[in-house]
Amino acid sequence: MTDVWSERAEMYRTSDAHREGPDLDLLVGWAVGARTALDVATGGGHLAGRLREAGIEVVSCDPAPGMHPDVICRAEDLPFADGSFDVVSTRVAAHHYDDVEQAVAEMARVAADAVLIVDNLFMGDDVEEAEKLRDPSHVRNHSEAEWREFVTRAGLRVEEVRLFEKPIAFQPWLDRCGCDGDEAERATALLGDRVNGGLVTLDRIALRAVHG
Ligand SMILES: C[S@@+](CC[C@H](N)C(=O)[O-])C[C@H]1O[C@@H](n2cnc3c(N)ncnc32)[C@H](O)[C@@H]1O
Repeated sequence: MTDVWSERAEMYRTSDAHREGPDLDLLVGWAVGARTALDVATGGGHLAGRLREAGIEVVSCDPAPGMHPDVICRAEDLPFADGSFDVVSTRVAAHHYDDVEQAVAEMARVAADAVLIVDNLFMGDDVEEAEKLRDPSHVRNHSEAEWREFVTRAGLRVEEVRLFEKPIAFQPWLDRCGCDGDEAERATALLGDRVNGGLVTLDRIALRAVHG
């Protein structure tokens, strides 16, 4: 997994789908007032960069050395003391976690105030199959109900949830994971109406959860 992500690192650093999006503004807005933040699964570091621009002292982490995070670690096993950061974030990565509940528990543990999450939503079995064909490292997208359960079980209170659609340039989406030929054709068929006019539109969730 780690090697795959290191190989893909440059594509994720330069990806328009990752370096842009209103969710970045939303997450930065939700982090206002924090002095410190941990960005988990930072990938190309787009959220970490935006949080730094907002004046927050940020540590980034990711298991893939090629992503050049400040700390190399998995979300399921964060090497930080309890309450180390005011805010802990993870954007568009949790569907790759082997154990998302453990990861949320870890994020809640190292957060003093809030955990901020953006990820794809569960869109049905066909989309899950398409996602796995496109990227074998895909584990699972989760529903809003599942997300609420994960954060609640981690001892957090859901303060705000936003649901939104994310249109993504379709060919670069396939290319980032080297998906082509028969697999790309099958994935396209499984995505159905979600692929239109050169875009694939995915459902996403943004969630702000707090201690107390
Ligand atoms: C789509 S990229 C992240 C995008 C990035 N957060 C952004 O906003 O542009 C997914 C990242 O998840 C990381 N990842 C995969 N499995 C992980 C795990 N178990 N714990 C933490 N990070 C993981 C990969 O190394 C990769 O950098």
